[in-house]
Amino acid sequence: MRYSDDLIEEIRSRNDIVDIISGYANLKKKGNSYLACCPFHHEKTPSFHVSREKQMYHCFGCGVGGNVYTFVMEHENITFPEAIETLAEKAGVQLPKEDLSEQAKRQEDKKIVIKDMNKLAAGYFHYLLKKERGEKAYAYLLDRGITDETIIKFGLGYSDIYSDDLYKYLKSKGYTDEQLKDSGLIKIDEVHGASDRFWNRVMYPIIDVRNRVIGFGGRVMGDGKPKYINTSDTPIFDKSRNLYGLNLAKKSRRKDIIFCEGYMDVISMHQAGFDNAVASLGTALTVGQVNLVKRFTDNVYLAYDSDGAGIKAALKALEILREFEISARVISLKPYKDPDELIRAEGMQTFEKRIETAESGIMFEITVLSEAYDQKDPAARTAFQKEVAKKLATIEEPLERKNYLQAVVARYQIDEKNLSNVVTRYGTNIIKIDNSIFEQGQTRKSPSEQKEEKKHEPQKLLLSWLIDEPALFQKLDGIIEPKDFYESIYHEIATIIYRQFEEKGEVMPAVILNRFTDIEEQKKAADIVHTKLKMELSPEEKEKAITDVVKKVKLASINHEINHTKDMKHQQTLITERGKVAKLHISL
Ligand code: CTP
Ligand code: MN
Repeated sequence: MRYSDDLIEEIRSRNDIVDIISGYANLKKKGNSYLACCPFHHEKTPSFHVSREKQMYHCFGCGVGGNVYTFVMEHENITFPEAIETLAEKAGVQLPKEDLSEQAKRQEDKKIVIKDMNKLAAGYFHYLLKKERGEKAYAYLLDRGITDETIIKFGLGYSDIYSDDLYKYLKSKGYTDEQLKDSGLIKIDEVHGASDRFWNRVMYPIIDVRNRVIGFGGRVMGDGKPKYINTSDTPIFDKSRNLYGLNLAKKSRRKDIIFCEGYMDVISMHQAGFDNAVASLGTALTVGQVNLVKRFTDNVYLAYDSDGAGIKAALKALEILREFEISARVISLKPYKDPDELIRAEGMQTFEKRIETAESGIMFEITVLSEAYDQKDPAARTAFQKEVAKKLATIEEPLERKNYLQAVVARYQIDEKNLSNVVTRYGTNIIKIDNSIFEQGQTRKSPSEQKEEKKHEPQKLLLSWLIDEPALFQKLDGIIEPKDFYESIYHEIATIIYRQFEEKGEVMPAVILNRFTDIEEQKKAADIVHTKLKMELSPEEKEKAITDVVKKVKLASINHEINHTKDMKHQQTLITERGKVAKLHISL
């Protein structure tokens, strides 16, 4: 069984490393990366780093490191093909069936059955809604201003008052109890027998981007508790990787996506013409959901509830969106609780205006911040301004930073010069913190290993610099080629990154590791990718350091070739070339 490189890469890119590792370690954000106690060795102070930018992890305590494949291979103790299958499944990537292992095939078949059952159930609930048995539910929806057209578009339905109605229906279609249990629609209990998860509720089928019913939300009619029941996680339903309404929103002609909190909000917005609305499924916005949306847009709006919980959820969402470089604006719904209420009370024009006047994520964060400080108290005001400066310092683009600075200065009557100085100070600190991460780890090695490593150190360093600063490719053009990295693993990596740079104009470190299917090789390769130049060098020092390493690599490469060629003439050329190396200078 051999999967194509493209497929391996697609699966890797669709499994965000922070997202995956979050399932195993308690990651805390620090600067540009995430930090936790290492899941591979016992430690009390965290030295396990995960970088979302690089899509890699590294432990400075025990030296493990790699990409998302390495992680699951090591953590689950499985082979590379198994890791591919596991991660493909998580990301909903279909693998060519003939290549699957027996176990994976069984899992595939199981999923097909669950999908079929969900589809049947959705059709059945929808059918009941317009029957006499569904009268109350239908009236409930009409009362909430939902039209027939919308009911059809969202496939809304009703689950009957009897608690085994769906069970009987699906049984009549020939499914076994075991299969019904897997679907998440039926509970099977040794004492009480079979019962439906949903009964006497308005049913909202949850449909994935590929238009398959993967689960349901069921709402009580009126004020009963719990207000909603949702399908629990099944092999086809993962709340954290799906968005309600995305199957429709992806077809919208509007370029952005509006995130909101509830099923009813999505439905209401679509009905009012905002057919780009989606909702996370009763959880905070997740990385998996952002990954999903990133395929369709880089611009989103948040239309979260206007209460405290909604504000908190919006702040959290902004944080994630920022990491994905998705720009976000926040729609104010005040004095209404949610988009559904606002639209019902004021209509679509008002909502359109609220979209137009939505605040940028940063300004929203600053507004929320300002409310926590008494602006009349000098000490509180200072603290507030410091926080604002910290926030502004995180904006990388200078022009954007300046514009926000001016907006803040005007709004809160702060002295521009003073604030700007503080921002610059925080800015430099941030850069320092980030660079301290992913510097070379200090793992103990045997003397012979150390000696061997020392010999190849320049090749390793140069590779890691190229990975970190692809601008170097141009500087080294005509001087260093992949063949100058003659040590086998370095040669392989050099070939990959030179090609990446040629084809894409950038280097993708995590992709490099896809090529190494053996865990030991992966570790070695990961180590190379993580080695980093200590950045506290001045520009001149850096220039000197790089020139130095380039010379060492070139000399070693020429000597290696001289030792391995029998062609006297070629040897002569090489010797002349070697003479020139001393004069090399790389200017940055
Ligand atoms: N939710 C849930 N379980 C609950 C409450 C809420 O799963 N017990 C999820 C649902 O996805 C719901 C969303 O959180 O749509 C937002 O909750 P809420 O604002 O309370 O409900 P609304 O969507 O506004 O529903 P309605 O307008 O019908 O009250
Ligand atoms: Mn509501």
